[in-house]
Amino acid sequence: MSLEVSSLAGSGTAHLRGDDTLLSVRDLEVEYRVKGGKFKAVAGISFDVRQGETLGIVGESGCGKSTTGRAVLRLDPIAGGQIRYGDEWIERVPEKRMRQLRREMQMIFQDPVGSLNPRRQVKEIVVEGLAIDGVAEAEQKSASRKVLEQVGLPGDRFAEMSPRQLSGGQAQRVAIGRAIALNPRLLICDEPVSALDVSVQAQILNLLEELKREFGLTIVFIAHDLGVVRAVSDNVLVMYLGKVCEFGDSVEVYDRPAHPYTRALLDSVPLTDPERGFAGPALKGDIPSPLSPPAGCRFRSRCPQAQGQCAAEEPVMREVRPGQFAACHFPLA
Ligand SMILES: Nc1ncnc2c1ncn2[C@@H]1O[C@H](COP(=O)(O)OP(=O)(O)O)[C@@H](O)[C@H]1O
Ligand code: SF4
Ligand SMILES: [Mg+2]
Repeated sequence: MSLEVSSLAGSGTAHLRGDDTLLSVRDLEVEYRVKGGKFKAVAGISFDVRQGETLGIVGESGCGKSTTGRAVLRLDPIAGGQIRYGDEWIERVPEKRMRQLRREMQMIFQDPVGSLNPRRQVKEIVVEGLAIDGVAEAEQKSASRKVLEQVGLPGDRFAEMSPRQLSGGQAQRVAIGRAIALNPRLLICDEPVSALDVSVQAQILNLLEELKREFGLTIVFIAHDLGVVRAVSDNVLVMYLGKVCEFGDSVEVYDRPAHPYTRALLDSVPLTDPERGFAGPALKGDIPSPLSPPAGCRFRSRCPQAQGQCAAEEPVMREVRPGQFAACHFPLA
């Protein structure tokens, strides 16, 4: 089952490939009910992730990154669009099959300590999934030792600790180990280092890179920190208020952003030398409410380049340079 990519070109989905793709998201919509009705936290987004690739998803808090990640595992009801994983359609598979797929598609969260059962020892936590599968105890034990070694917590020192005795970085290693123990194909990492000290962040990112190489993992890496996403991603997807602004090779997008929002995000990133402050003017204005987004281009209320057409017409994704796509009427040169 393959998607007809060419037939979608021009409908805002021209940035899709369709080759050795493991995950294909098309026009995804996720709605939440709130007081006074419902709103689209994800309002029609499309992207592809090839086997073995890391896709970074960036954008300010509330733009729908976590909702997108959760939708792939069907943890929230999908209001519209399709999610194809391998040859299966996530929005349609029976719940029983979905439970199996959730083992192949593991998720890592921001709060490592909170994601671990405080009443269990580290050596039990990493093989929780295997225990549920009914794997024999002796096998669990050897798997536990192996996994702890793989995530850099070798020997006996950590095995009998409870999650509360671990540092944030160690707890995240345990959470990663628990995911790896199930031999996943896809890892969805939702702000996995945002709660960690900068020095520890690099160690966890390196660990993810090592595991990716060793197990041929495909990764969706969600973060609000552009620097972190750049360090790990092959491609990057920039989101704003439930929509995609820009998509492309991460080196290209970071070096020559085509969408004014990407430019603004990059300009807001603090320079490594604190004396020099920020790279440019910070992003101005508040994010509009997703309950009543601006008509036309959603970014127009904060965009320094906005013109009349931006209010009248919603921009679709167009290829601005080979392999780089932006949803903007007036992309940056
Ligand atoms: N369970 C929920 N019920 C209602 N609104 C939600 C729920 N989860 C998230 N939201 C809202 O949906 C939008 C997107 O949230 P989220 O995907 O968590 O953004 P991000 O991860 O990019 O910060 C936000 O406006 C958020 O407040
Ligand atoms: S379409 Fe207009 S408002 Fe939107 S990002 Fe482009 S220039 Fe700015
Ligand atoms: Mg989030």
